[in-house]
Amino acid sequence: MKITTKNLILRHFEETGSKRMFLLDSNPDVMKYIGVPPVTDIQESLHIIKMISQQYQDNGVGRLAVIEKESGLLIGWSGLKLLTQEINGYKNVYDLGYRFLPEFWGKGYAFESAKASLDFGFKDMNIDVIYAHAHSENAGSNHILKKLGFEKTGEFTEPDGICYWYELKRKNFL
Ligand SMILES: CC(C)(COP(=O)(O)OP(=O)(O)OC[C@H]1O[C@@H](n2cnc3c(N)ncnc32)[C@H](O)[C@@H]1OP(=O)(O)O)[C@@H](O)C(=O)NCCC(=O)NCCS
Repeated sequence: MKITTKNLILRHFEETGSKRMFLLDSNPDVMKYIGVPPVTDIQESLHIIKMISQQYQDNGVGRLAVIEKESGLLIGWSGLKLLTQEINGYKNVYDLGYRFLPEFWGKGYAFESAKASLDFGFKDMNIDVIYAHAHSENAGSNHILKKLGFEKTGEFTEPDGICYWYELKRKNFL
């Protein structure tokens, strides 16, 4: 599984990515709107990578490691996930998500990677509707989802505040 865009390579996670994953998930700025505290032990990051690898096998899809072509570095993750645990009353639907190290913010990478994952989901996997959610105060993520064509169809409450629920139908994907 490999998706190539202008600036990025999206590919399956490997256990060797745990150091970069730890850099990402231990960063309080990255985790500000995620609803779980930053991780404090690299073993947690290795465990997350193992869970994602299991999802590739069980569900045929899971978040993808994002490599910046220019630097060759793993800069975050992006992509689709099958929601096997209920969120906002939805279960067994495909969800779009992304997360990057701050030094790579503001370069258009979230949008570029999301667009490629949506293209794969709608055209290769033939998914009818892709969902997403973001904390109401996460201005960047809410902006990106709207720019991708997502429609806000609901709100739900999490322990850390209000989240917005979005959906995008294949027929509305440009
Ligand atoms: C949210 C996040 C993924 C954005 O990544 P990014 O690569 O910087 O986003 P992009 O460069 O693709 O930005 C796309 C658009 O969103 C806008 N945007 C990005 N961050 C923004 C912010 N904090 N506030 C307002 N607008 C923002 C950009 O200006 C750009 O707008 P434009 O195309 O209309 O000019 C990144 O900040 C991040 O990893 N945050 C921590 C994890 C997270 O919150 N993930 C989402 C959980 S729902």
